[in-house]
Amino acid sequence: MIPELSRPSVYMRDPRRVEEIIKAMKQAGPSTMQVISDFDMTLTRFAYNGKRCPTCHNILENSKLISQECRDKLEDLLNTYYPIEIDSSRSVEEKLPLMVEWWTKAHDLLVQQKIRKDLLTLVVRESDAMLREGYRVFFDQLQEHSIPLLIFSAGVGDVLEEVIRQAGVFHPNVKIFSNYMDFDENGALRAFKGQLIHIYNKREGALLNSGHFQELKARHNVLLLGDSLGDLTMADGVYSMENILKIGYLNDKVQERKESYLNAYDIVLQQDETMDVANAILLYMT
Ligand code: TMP
Ligand code: MG
Repeated sequence: MIPELSRPSVYMRDPRRVEEIIKAMKQAGPSTMQVISDFDMTLTRFAYNGKRCPTCHNILENSKLISQECRDKLEDLLNTYYPIEIDSSRSVEEKLPLMVEWWTKAHDLLVQQKIRKDLLTLVVRESDAMLREGYRVFFDQLQEHSIPLLIFSAGVGDVLEEVIRQAGVFHPNVKIFSNYMDFDENGALRAFKGQLIHIYNKREGALLNSGHFQELKARHNVLLLGDSLGDLTMADGVYSMENILKIGYLNDKVQERKESYLNAYDIVLQQDETMDVANAILLYMT
């Protein structure tokens, strides 16, 4: 049906079920579909030429906008909390307060640096941010078929927008839920707006933004893309869901986490730096 599903990076617990969902979504057609995707390490690459690619936070961390002292502190936080994020031996309940701690400390540090809004474009341009291979086909295809794309990110909205704007794919069908910066009258960062989105409260974020899902209430079929088990709740605000196909990128700690990813995601992409599988499924469905 879709040759890309036979690639060595693709794992499925129940290929027949995947086939059924894809067929049902194809039959219902693009006017019934919406796509909900995480950003960091899902739409962006995990690694390139053996080197890790940056998250939204890392783009700021590696930039000239912050002091060496702040960079060191953010690096310490990453070294402390990232291993917890990907630790398959700890439960979500155990990780949740620690993730809130990570995000809160990181955002406090960024606010102390009074980051300037007018420099964000330059910082993103000079960064190593990289969308996954095939990203243009992905974004263009959705735009062409008027399929709404919700990017739901615990990263930094202002940075994420700049990445997709500079890549030329910030089309009108793209909507973003993320942590947005609040700037003072001089254009310096003074806080983050609204309720914090971290890796394990995307369900609450989805329910808070019920207006968005209300607008799309005729779209009962969802393609969901994520790289964390926390991303699975991104579609919890969708009205009377009929079909959902969940694609999960398994980037890191592959052996330890494979089983849990196979139980949670319909399709698991193991160390796959491309959008090829999602693109092929969308091409088939539309
Ligand atoms: P996502 O929801 O778009 O994937 O963004 C969340 C990622 O951001 C998550 O994998 C951890 C990462 N992150 C950093 O790299 N540095 C930080 O300081 C924080 C708070 C998160
Ligand atoms: Mg992610």
